[in-house]
Amino acid sequence: MPRKIIVFGNQKGGTGKSTLAMHLVVSLLFKNYRVATVDVDARQGTFSRYIENREGSKKNAPEILMPDHTALFESGLDSASASEKENFERISELLGSLTDYDFVVIDTPGNDNSLSRIAHSFSDVIITPMNESFIDLDLLVRIRELDANDLKPSIYAEMVWNQKKERAIRDKMSIDWIVLINRMSSMMSKNRQALEKVLGALSKRIGFRSATGFKERVIFRELFLSGLTLLDKNIAGAQTSLSHIAARHELNDLLKSLNISGKDDD
Ligand SMILES: Nc1ncnc2c1ncn2[C@@H]1O[C@H](COP(=O)(O)OP(=O)(O)OP(=O)(O)O)[C@@H](O)[C@H]1O
Ligand SMILES: [Mg+2]
Repeated sequence: MPRKIIVFGNQKGGTGKSTLAMHLVVSLLFKNYRVATVDVDARQGTFSRYIENREGSKKNAPEILMPDHTALFESGLDSASASEKENFERISELLGSLTDYDFVVIDTPGNDNSLSRIAHSFSDVIITPMNESFIDLDLLVRIRELDANDLKPSIYAEMVWNQKKERAIRDKMSIDWIVLINRMSSMMSKNRQALEKVLGALSKRIGFRSATGFKERVIFRELFLSGLTLLDKNIAGAQTSLSHIAARHELNDLLKSLNISGKDDD
């Protein structure tokens, strides 16, 4: 199986990129894959902190599975072109050193910068979580309520298109773009129905596919300080509840939409 680079991206902040990146990483580790992680949002460093906290827990529980992590900072050079060049070198050098892994999972910031753009251009898959809101949708595509044909890609969609072009020129490979709703309310609402309908209608035209999303669940946020996830629940000593089982299903659905099965099931 060739190595797969998965980038979590959305220029909207706080949509769940770091949280879902961490949960995907742990799911992959539990399936016996070799996983490297890269934080290109190193200034904020949520992903790095999550992994650092996990490293702390591992001191008392050596069986905890870890990815190999790198925090990658943006170039501090003054000239835009020099810093773009340095960022490109930093990413390509790092990815060149991670060829022995099955997956490289990259977390990016909720804003636009050159390091993040370049990371997107190296991806095989981009996963974009968005919240259950037309404001979040507006950052992907601008549509008018009365005319779904009157649409225009927004800045993030344009950025993804540009990086798809970059990748195609560089190595003739394509990037699979997945959009999913995160922090869904537990009840199906008219708002979500409308949002899912619009997403379905737009996906072909904007060039992404939709995947099952994640509900708003305490378990997705309560284990940050220990660096653990619901998959580590035995270690965390958490009680299994229906919500945890449903959360596992959501994670499994994400793996399925990425065509990932267990390494041993291959
Ligand atoms: N499914 C979920 N259920 C409950 N809380 C969630 C869920 N997903 C994310 N969160 C919470 O939402 C907040 C934002 O999540 P996170 O930091 O992962 O987003 P982000 O997209 O990485 O943000 P940024 O753009 O700032 O990097 C955090 O408080 C996180 O704990
Ligand atoms: Mg983040």
